[in-house]
Amino acid sequence: MTALALCPGSYDPITLGHLDIARRAQGIIGQVVIGIANNANKKYLFSLERRVELARLSVSELGLEGVSVEPIDGLLANYIKERGVTAIVKGLRSSGDFESERAMALLNRHMSGVETLFIMGDQGLNHVASSYVKEIASYGVELAGSVTEVVRSALKDAYGEAK
Ligand code: PNS
Repeated sequence: MTALALCPGSYDPITLGHLDIARRAQGIIGQVVIGIANNANKKYLFSLERRVELARLSVSELGLEGVSVEPIDGLLANYIKERGVTAIVKGLRSSGDFESERAMALLNRHMSGVETLFIMGDQGLNHVASSYVKEIASYGVELAGSVTEVVRSALKDAYGEAK
């Protein structure tokens, strides 16, 4: 059976940091699914359908091979079992990321039996996070070098030009 890595998250919206992790995971594991989830406790700027569309367009914009995008409806553990996921792969930027990711990794392993592997992302993208990208974009300014062209244009449509 071909190995399959799952990079799960909200991706509201997908950033170059996320895409860097998917690319690195693909280089090690072979096939990668970027799984886009809806967390009922979170309020999103983009709908699930739009987040999936922006991620798919971003993957094609960067020409990433072996990386696909799918929505995840319901529990991650169910998706992992149904899809035959080999490992969850997540990116780490800092020790701050580690604490929350550690808890999620243990929860997901408890529920699905699948391990989470962590990859350190590109250092040049350390400051890039969906929340910062949206915060800066809400002032009509672009966080340079943080997202693809399609996401840049979607953020411009959502927030407008500089105030
Ligand atoms: O922090 P994120 O990027 O919004 O993470 C989303 C996700 C699905 C990776 C994270 O919430 C998780 O691992 N949840 C496990 C519990 C679960 O399956 N919840 C339902 C989908 S949110």
